[in-house]
Amino acid sequence: MNKKPKHVAIIMDGNGRWAQKKGKNRTIGHKRGAKVVKEIVEEATKNQIEFLTLFAFSTDNWSRPEDEVNLLMKLLVGSLKKEFKRIIDNNIRLCSVGNFNTLPDLVKEELMFVIEKTKINTGMVLTLALNYGGKEEIIDALKAITAKVKNSIISPENIDESTLIEHLYTRNLPPVDLLIRTSGEERISNFLLWHIAHAELYFTKTLWPDFKKKDLEKALLNYSKRERRFGKTSEQINV
Ligand code: FPP
Repeated sequence: MNKKPKHVAIIMDGNGRWAQKKGKNRTIGHKRGAKVVKEIVEEATKNQIEFLTLFAFSTDNWSRPEDEVNLLMKLLVGSLKKEFKRIIDNNIRLCSVGNFNTLPDLVKEELMFVIEKTKINTGMVLTLALNYGGKEEIIDALKAITAKVKNSIISPENIDESTLIEHLYTRNLPPVDLLIRTSGEERISNFLLWHIAHAELYFTKTLWPDFKKKDLEKALLNYSKRERRFGKTSEQINV
């Protein structure tokens, strides 16, 4: 049996479809989705997952109707305020990755507050990918590296994997071990492109608002049975 994953990342998909299936407005799906975030964070903590990264808002999500974008931002701020005590009590460290600067001021302020207050916590690192795009992340890293090359801080011949990693938004995160996507879609959607290079992928048809603690357990069990070879043979792994 494999160990449990150190870093679990989740594409929380299906809020809109969940609501539509019930004849309700998409906003109801997002509200329910936010409740599920709380439950899954709790369950991940109980399972001693060291890093949990959630895709909360992608750079592509700005193209949704303005009302929906506003609701998602409001839900985020509301959840951070509401869950602050629980985050502290559970020794969780909150981080965010993505383009921070162009987020609404209210979101930036609340995020900065919780990130600052939890930075000494030693439990699970909960990272919210917000205004995040994997391609944008790599482009931003390349821009930063190029500027350093220009100023002779980095010499091109010394550029390697670690140079790129050090300039990613996700520089403080380990590689993703298990990537979960809900709702039956089987794609990556520009999420953590660099860090999922060797991740195990787990797709479930369950819509995010229906994703329960037992569904996370099922994904973790599924992961525990997989053989991760990283290019080696099975015999080499099992010596
Ligand atoms: C995908 O469902 C989900 C999102 C775009 C955002 C995820 C947001 C939440 C779970 C709520 C708040 C988040 C936090 C961190 C408190 P979708 O709308 O794309 O669903 P669809 O594909 O069925 O339309």
